[in-house]
Amino acid sequence: MTIPPSKVPQRVLVTGASRGIGRAVAVLLAARGDWVAACGRDVAALTELVAESKQEGGAGGIFAVPGDVTSEQERAGLLDAAVAVLGGLDALVLSAGIARHALFGAITDEDLGATLSTNLVAPVLLAQRALGRLSDGGAVVLLGSNLAHRSVAGTLAYAASKAGLEAAARTMALELAPRGIRVNVVAPGAVDTEMLRGRDLSGLAKSHALGRIGRTDEIAEAVLFLLDSPWTTGTTLIVDGGALLQ
Ligand SMILES: NC(=O)c1ccc[n+]([C@@H]2O[C@H](COP(=O)([O-])OP(=O)(O)OC[C@H]3O[C@@H](n4cnc5c(N)ncnc54)[C@H](OP(=O)(O)O)[C@@H]3O)[C@@H](O)[C@H]2O)c1
Repeated sequence: MTIPPSKVPQRVLVTGASRGIGRAVAVLLAARGDWVAACGRDVAALTELVAESKQEGGAGGIFAVPGDVTSEQERAGLLDAAVAVLGGLDALVLSAGIARHALFGAITDEDLGATLSTNLVAPVLLAQRALGRLSDGGAVVLLGSNLAHRSVAGTLAYAASKAGLEAAARTMALELAPRGIRVNVVAPGAVDTEMLRGRDLSGLAKSHALGRIGRTDEIAEAVLFLLDSPWTTGTTLIVDGGALLQ
């Protein structure tokens, strides 16, 4: 795909950027001329991403801002670091997430707590902490899941975290609209990342009407669409190969 350059380069914090969907978003943004602060806990993976982006020589660039999004102290530190390297903040793409699957009868307090903490509490509190730094007219894109809309056995904690995230996003969108800050969610179906390692990928492919699972670049394009859509807020863009049709 040819990516048109950013009209005005954006300064974007991307969490979950050490791999998977967040990484693909960071790469696409830098290629079109935006400046990215890339967050994850895996410092080696972030260093590799920064080096790769320098080699690619895109119009923009990527800086590493390592941190654990579930720690209040680390959220503060990585936001400070992002603002310092970017010189401000125009947008957030909050992709960090975990999936721990267990049947309802077997789910543990720890599974439920860790999933809600990473997938719901962390992005809400990170976005809240960023409010004083985020430009008016800016944008937030959160990574949800089509499992917020579709019941699959074993996904209780994950589905609840993503359904909560969508509800939170709508309220954030309403409250931030006076500042022109838009808040939207991309809800993917199954995408080929480490999150699906160990799963039956051909079985998963059949559960999508288009007959295959998604690629990270296909989700990244949807994220960029929402970052760039000036009159879209409080909505969820489902990008799931037609899984919800079946
Ligand atoms: N893949 C799918 O099928 C799929 C489908 C629907 C929705 N999603 C959603 O899309 C998002 C990205 O998923 P993915 O497939 O790209 O997953 P992934 O490949 O497993 O990557 C997850 C990312 O989240 C980061 N992360 C996890 N916990 C973190 C923490 N406590 N602090 C900081 N970073 C943390 C990881 O970084 P470190 O390990 O370096 O910390 C990694 O960069 C998630 O929100 C996921 O729920 C994925």
